[in-house]
Amino acid sequence: MTVSAGTLAGMKRIALLGATGSIGRQAIEVIDAHPELELVAATSGSQPIDGLAPLTQTGGDPTDLLDRTQPDVVLNAVVGFAGLAPTMWALEHGVTLALANKESLVAAGDLALDARRRGGGAIIPVDSEHSALFQCAKLGEPESLVLTASGGPFRGRRREELADVTPDDALAHPTWNMGPKITVDSATLANKGLEIIEAHFLFGVPYERIEVVIHPTSIVHGLVRFRDGAAIAHLGYPDMRVPISYALTYPDRAETPVPPLELRTLEFAEPDLDTFRLLALAREAGERGGTFPCAFNAANEVAVGAFLAGRIGFLDIAAAVEDVLERVDGAPARDLDELVEADRRARELVAVPA
Ligand SMILES: NC(=O)c1ccc[n+]([C@@H]2O[C@H](COP(=O)([O-])OP(=O)(O)OC[C@H]3O[C@@H](n4cnc5c(N)ncnc54)[C@H](OP(=O)(O)O)[C@@H]3O)[C@@H](O)[C@H]2O)c1
Repeated sequence: MTVSAGTLAGMKRIALLGATGSIGRQAIEVIDAHPELELVAATSGSQPIDGLAPLTQTGGDPTDLLDRTQPDVVLNAVVGFAGLAPTMWALEHGVTLALANKESLVAAGDLALDARRRGGGAIIPVDSEHSALFQCAKLGEPESLVLTASGGPFRGRRREELADVTPDDALAHPTWNMGPKITVDSATLANKGLEIIEAHFLFGVPYERIEVVIHPTSIVHGLVRFRDGAAIAHLGYPDMRVPISYALTYPDRAETPVPPLELRTLEFAEPDLDTFRLLALAREAGERGGTFPCAFNAANEVAVGAFLAGRIGFLDIAAAVEDVLERVDGAPARDLDELVEADRRARELVAVPA
């Protein structure tokens, strides 16, 4: 019998999906800095990655690759609904899922949680806010959750001031350096909307007890309130290597190059739901349940793509998503085929120029 490196005591074998992206590249940095982490498989969407790991794949369904690799941890850093297959694979197989790809959990929701119950594995969130909440929630049963949002590059602007903003304007994020889709989602606050739904599924907290506050410097990542009146917050500089490292080395807490936090004044404000309509629409989609979150995500992905390609304006993103949410029935998906069909139908309904 051959003994793979993964069977050596203390070694963790990592499959990294989305290795060429912003999260993927930072994950490789974290893995390279820790000899106990071994990159055993890697995927990308279209960029070549031959030689990056013993097994690599570009494009297509990664589940065969995962079957062959049998990793200890799947780090899903694919962008968008395309991340569904590795999320479901990890949950069904009881393999620890380090989850950056929030879209898969938002879209699959109950189906993903059913798969986790069957598989018995853990989800360790990589999204910085959810990593923060996950760590705070270790101290007790959360009564309510607070997600912070930087407010993006258009914080403080009124709706009419956003009609002519360009993709370059939207891509200039003040605190985080991320891939283009999530950066636009941060500018519209759709990202925070997706995160409300993600938090609901991760922590089982009802929507009315998940709050969003604007916090421009992104130092406080999340806060959990407990029934005794205590509230525990997680603070740190905005650097994704911290939550990536936490997820990959969990339950340990490994060293990172991020400097110790110096305290400063922290500011918080209410989000402007009229200007940043997608935040309210996402919450509504979450509350309605069924495949409404899936439709929200699908319509948003298509509309963001059209905005980045210069085919629609910034405000058209929310208008397109709202229109789709009014037209889908949102019926719950009984299985993955029905979910994929709900995603497809919602994409088809997005009224943007081809
Ligand atoms: N970036 C952040 O700081 C951050 C923070 C929190 C959460 N997240 C979440 O993490 C995920 C990744 O974000 P990112 O900013 O790293 O995105 P990104 O820089 O755009 O990278 C996306 C990755 O997904 C791959 N990919 C794209 N389409 C694919 C497909 N159809 N099938 C398989 N792989 C595909 C890309 O491969 P190619 O390069 O070959 O196209 C790339 O490796 C998103 O869900 C995002 O919301 C990101």
